[in-house]
Amino acid sequence: MRGYLKVATVASALLGAALAAPIIKVHPGDGSDIIITSQDTVNATQPAPANATATNSTFKLAENVASSNGQLPLFLVNNFAGAINAYVTGLDSNNQLVMLQPDGSWLYPTCDPTVSTPQAVTANVAIPLGGQGSTTQVTLPGYISAARVWFAAGNLEFFTVYSTATNGPSLVEPSAVNPSDPSAAVSWGFVELTNTEAGGLYANISYVDFVGLVLGMSLLSGDGSTQSAKGLQPNAVSTICSLLEAQTAKDGMPWTDLCQVDASGTPLRVIAPSDYVASNPDAFSAYFPDHVSEVWTHYSTNTLTIDTQAAAGKVACTVQGDLLTCAGDNRGYARPIAGDIFGCNSGPFAIEADDNDVHRAVVPRLCAAFDRATLLMTGGDSQPGLASTSYYQSAPTNWYSAFVHQNEVDGKGYAFSYDDVNPDGDVNQSGVVADADPQVLTVIVGGPLAG
Ligand SMILES: *[C@@H]1O[C@H](CO)[C@@H](O)[C@H](O)[C@H]1NC(C)=O
Ligand SMILES: *[C@@H]1O[C@H](CO)[C@@H](O)[C@H](O)[C@H]1NC(C)=O
Ligand SMILES: *[C@@H]1O[C@H](CO)[C@@H](O)[C@H](O)[C@H]1NC(C)=O
Ligand SMILES: *[C@@H]1O[C@H](CO)[C@@H](O)[C@H](O)[C@H]1NC(C)=O
Ligand SMILES: *[C@@H]1O[C@H](CO)[C@@H](O)[C@H](O)[C@H]1NC(C)=O
Repeated sequence: MRGYLKVATVASALLGAALAAPIIKVHPGDGSDIIITSQDTVNATQPAPANATATNSTFKLAENVASSNGQLPLFLVNNFAGAINAYVTGLDSNNQLVMLQPDGSWLYPTCDPTVSTPQAVTANVAIPLGGQGSTTQVTLPGYISAARVWFAAGNLEFFTVYSTATNGPSLVEPSAVNPSDPSAAVSWGFVELTNTEAGGLYANISYVDFVGLVLGMSLLSGDGSTQSAKGLQPNAVSTICSLLEAQTAKDGMPWTDLCQVDASGTPLRVIAPSDYVASNPDAFSAYFPDHVSEVWTHYSTNTLTIDTQAAAGKVACTVQGDLLTCAGDNRGYARPIAGDIFGCNSGPFAIEADDNDVHRAVVPRLCAAFDRATLLMTGGDSQPGLASTSYYQSAPTNWYSAFVHQNEVDGKGYAFSYDDVNPDGDVNQSGVVADADPQVLTVIVGGPLAG
């Protein structure tokens, strides 16, 4: 499939009446269409076990299976009107690459060191869930980190590439942002988790990069209490695509391009604007400059107070020269552009190794204020300060984040990387569950259960 048109731009009029606007039609390719990024890889820091160095990619080491520690039951609830496969990927306690097999044991994927292109994992690593309304139980055989529990309305394709750094395999996972990824035509999503002896379980559902197959989760803790992050409404992907379409009609910005559809025009996923701008650097370039100018003008004669919510307390910031400069901060902030605001990790928001604590506290709070369009509101001179009901009330703002939050059942789940910035005492919106002594992690696919 190499050389095939990667992104098709289809005029709205050509799409079915059911959904008129999303214009990124996916074109699933093969291993040669994979774009390797840090978001979609798990890199072992240890090679596969010695016995797994066969050049074929699917060797299983039975004797490494099922240490008595770290076993975690997963209850996988299918609330989706259709067949679902689950997959588990990550690193075991030796930092060796693992995937869960249907028999409950780890597979240690390997790859041929003489082949430079991604090699498909051919072992059976799909765990089919029961039908709608059923719960399928699996148990992770041991501690795991950098892990994902994936769910797909179809089959996902995983690959390995040989890493000279570890003399072993790196796992290449499906990518939400590459419309030519081999799994691009499948609706899928994942829960991220780490479960270690020292730290216990930490699991999250995040929309920082995309919204896909709808998932929710709950954790039964060692003390018998339950934490949950309920996820999105069952029809969230279509709803968000429609909202983005309406937004493009209003402001002419390419919001609709965040929506990926299958060959029949059915929405599959919505990618975050940070990921879209990363591969389309000119997109949204006209969106923020006027607003940033207004902010810079305002704070050349007014003081922006940023509460570091840490030892440094509140720091006063003003525009000096053309840099926003905060008291006690080791350096100032140049004007951000769209990619900086959506991603919070480039331009003035890139944190460098020698940045001090004030700088590290200002970056998330300043970037969150831009994403939420609160800097020029009444009360916006103190950040964070306004309640979440004041977020996303005017343009320019991060409409992706606004629409994701509108579709959250319980308001939980980050939609941009510093979505946890909130005034002291406000609810923590992160879609995280964590416990030192986890008993059962339940994941619900296809929207929350009734009641
Ligand atoms: C894994 O290694 C590849 C290069 O082999 C690199 O492109 C990718 O960013 C790495 N992934 C992570 C999570 O560091
Ligand atoms: C490889 O597997 C064989 C058979 O299970 C076992 O006897 C041998 O000790 C293993 N070698 C290593 C290096 O683990
Ligand atoms: C890969 O190795 C496994 C385990 O030895 C074996 O069962 C399987 O047939 C091999 N596959 C190929 C394609 O060689
Ligand atoms: C979600 O969990 C993963 C794995 O533990 C972690 O790497 C990532 O930073 C977490 N993301 C958020 C937004 O908490
Ligand atoms: C919100 O909760 C998560 C999970 O416990 C934690 O990682 C994060 O730091 C919290 N955020 C704030 C602002 O307290």
